[in-house]
Amino acid sequence: MGQGSFPRYRGSVKVHVANHPLITHKLTVLRDENTNSPTFRQLTEELVMLLAYEATREVKTVPQKIKTPVAETTGAVLAKPRPVVVPILRAGLGMLEGMTRLIPTAEVGFLGMVRDEVTLQASTYANRLPEDLRGRQCYVLDPMLATGGTLIAAFNYLIERGAQDITAITILAAPEGIKTVQDAFASSDFPITIVTGALDEKLNEKGYIVPGLGDAGDRLYGVV
Ligand code: URA
Repeated sequence: MGQGSFPRYRGSVKVHVANHPLITHKLTVLRDENTNSPTFRQLTEELVMLLAYEATREVKTVPQKIKTPVAETTGAVLAKPRPVVVPILRAGLGMLEGMTRLIPTAEVGFLGMVRDEVTLQASTYANRLPEDLRGRQCYVLDPMLATGGTLIAAFNYLIERGAQDITAITILAAPEGIKTVQDAFASSDFPITIVTGALDEKLNEKGYIVPGLGDAGDRLYGVV
């Protein structure tokens, strides 16, 4: 596992792979097949908070004058309209709590996307998002960037509604998926950033990330 051979910038898609011992430690416990669902959920929340710190580096702020007990000063607070956080159902829901802890005033929209296990194509089956996303910074939450199909469909959905910029936070990513997303937006100048906890080796023939962590939805919520 490492930085992979894809360029960090390609078209408009920037990729940031976290490289931090705390993240690696938490990921190692998360990947372990013996880790139970409650621990998996707790670790996912903690990882999202760490990744969101990097992912929100470009969040818009406005200056605000305040008075401390000592002096007047100008600080900065989050600009309005607030960022929109978009978990991809179902596994992205496991990342929501960590993100809203970091930005409690963010608005939350939902995108339900399902992957056909044979064709691996993603399609939308539900959405709860403002129709007009003009001027909104969007943070897409999806734990596994595997083939890239789900993220491409989600990004196009948000871009069509006028999103200002998009940052996706993923726990793990496969090099194939990153390349597919970068290729899909290679001729676009729309600003997209992907922040991921680790870049794994590859996808297997079933579209699972290797070594990965298995099915993120199942590990979060059990097999239903
Ligand atoms: N989705 C998952 O939950 N796991 C994978 O490895 C790939 C896609």
